[in-house]
Amino acid sequence: MHVACIMDGNGRWAQRRGLPRIAGHTQGEENLAAVVRLCVARNVDYLTVFGFSTENWIRPRKEVRHILSLHKRLFGRVKELNELNVRVSWIGRRFEDPAARTPRFVQKAIRQAISDTSANTGMTLTVAFDYGSRAEIAEAARLLHDRGLQPTIENLAQQMYLPQMPNVDVVVRTSGERRLSNFLLWQSNGAPIHFTANTWPEYSAEDLDQALALARRVHSS
Ligand code: IPE
Ligand code: IPE
Ligand code: MG
Repeated sequence: MHVACIMDGNGRWAQRRGLPRIAGHTQGEENLAAVVRLCVARNVDYLTVFGFSTENWIRPRKEVRHILSLHKRLFGRVKELNELNVRVSWIGRRFEDPAARTPRFVQKAIRQAISDTSANTGMTLTVAFDYGSRAEIAEAARLLHDRGLQPTIENLAQQMYLPQMPNVDVVVRTSGERRLSNFLLWQSNGAPIHFTANTWPEYSAEDLDQALALARRVHSS
């Protein structure tokens, strides 16, 4: 089972409580740690979460800086993740891509988390950071072109950032928005989408169970 979450609504969660938007991101990162535990308890094999998109760089600098530091914190949760037998992975514009924007300190945190959890055999947690599907697909096409290969479905699939990543079984989007926002467009072909009005900091076991039930229903039909 592969669950892919568009973690939306952190800002609104904070604003509704009279807090600055960054407080919502902090709470969102906390809840992600809780959702990881929940997914492990439900035997989810792959959890992929949209942490920061190629479009999100235009946000106010202070907010971006805060979100970057939260990713450092997230990738630093190695002890917890090892206890849960979770393997960390990352998806996003390859660091050597001239258009890539992941700063060095986040690159370092990503590499460290991947290597410190590489022996784990349980769930794979993939964090999408500096990620956008259009950039991913365009880059795949470019690589094929440079190698003189045809852009067949099979060839393109092999040039995605993480070719081994299995197809998504259910996409989740929180906070009532009904958009895909450039997330895993290739990998989630055919997958149902579970929308919840809860914001990401409020995302609960009940929400997850509904999404898993939707995935099973679509799968068995
Ligand atoms: C999702 O929450 C987090 C990121 C996109 C990084 P938002 O920050 O988009 O929250 P809203 O949509 O403004 O409420
Ligand atoms: C999607 O949320 C991106 C992430 C969750 C990282 P946004 O809040 O950025 O999406 P739009 O702009 O509302 O579509
Ligand atoms: Mg949003």
